[in-house]
Amino acid sequence: SIPVPNVQELVRKDPLQVPQRYVRDMEDRPNDTDMSHLSSLIPIIDMSLLLMGNEDELNKLDLACQEWGFFQLVNHGVPNEVLQKMKDSAAEFFDLPLEEKNKYAMPSNDVQGYGHAYVVSEEQILDWSDALILVVHPSHYRKLDFWPKSPKGLKEIIEEYSNAIQKVGIELLQLLSHIMGMEKEALLKLHKQLVQAYRVNYYPPCSKPDQVIGVSPHSDSGTIAILMQEDYISGLQIQHKGEWVPVDPIPNALVVNVGDVIEMWSNGKYKSIIHRAVTNTEKARISYASFLYPHDEAEIEPLDRMLSPQSPQRMYKRVKFGEYLRNSLKMKMEGKAHTKMAR
Ligand code: SIN
Ligand code: FE2
Repeated sequence: SIPVPNVQELVRKDPLQVPQRYVRDMEDRPNDTDMSHLSSLIPIIDMSLLLMGNEDELNKLDLACQEWGFFQLVNHGVPNEVLQKMKDSAAEFFDLPLEEKNKYAMPSNDVQGYGHAYVVSEEQILDWSDALILVVHPSHYRKLDFWPKSPKGLKEIIEEYSNAIQKVGIELLQLLSHIMGMEKEALLKLHKQLVQAYRVNYYPPCSKPDQVIGVSPHSDSGTIAILMQEDYISGLQIQHKGEWVPVDPIPNALVVNVGDVIEMWSNGKYKSIIHRAVTNTEKARISYASFLYPHDEAEIEPLDRMLSPQSPQRMYKRVKFGEYLRNSLKMKMEGKAHTKMAR
């Protein structure tokens, strides 16, 4: 990435300015048709029922992954205090002076740290957000220089929150293994090593939210992503049947989506859905994403048991995850985030 302006600072200096570098081409602008009536159709799944082996809920999970690629997870077991501490501490981080946050600035050859990943040219249209991105698991992958020392306790809560999310992630991988007809640990084993990253996004308000995008349309490259949203501020939108459907927050729920790797392993049965984040004129929004990935050396290809008389062909080429990830990063940098590589 190349150094780009800090969006939070830009808005702090002049809340009305929207520099040309952020203004989208007409066809990429968020349309103003209100699709919020569709938000309530996004499946809401109860983890406590899944863990009891409730068949209806397992069917709901199966359908959610096939038809939406996204669902809201309730009764997930992460204590509300942990969610709240994560929110409070990250909000305090973003409130710090820029020079303090820039102690953790993302270097040009890295995707960890505070700033903007995937920015490669002066011409590129920029996202209306800043982010802090860290690899959290396995712990020897951590680059501790990027873990903020202030506010006090942020490092510890990132760790505590990420551990709690990892537990949910592993349970989901076990349940997905089950509904794919495999033994519980099958998907986890296919990871070779479970890798987890944390990304907290800060979207300042924007005086022209219809001209900018908070995070450009993309699908997530890994296996699953688990997102905590701000309680009452919408921003996330997902592609569904040609419409951008908002995922309106349900307080204390987690938004879960299937990534490219699950789509490939499932031979396209489960969908890794294109999504984006939009902004609003009123309020800053913070979102907290955790991503699960396989090890770079893990082989990604449709699993034998996902081939059936109805879909006998493998829809995706075999690829090592590291290679897939590097390719999809390259495509993101070329602004082709919504073209999946392995098809
Ligand atoms: C993302 O998917 O990268 C961000 C989603 C969000 O902020 O809601
Ligand atoms: Fe995403």
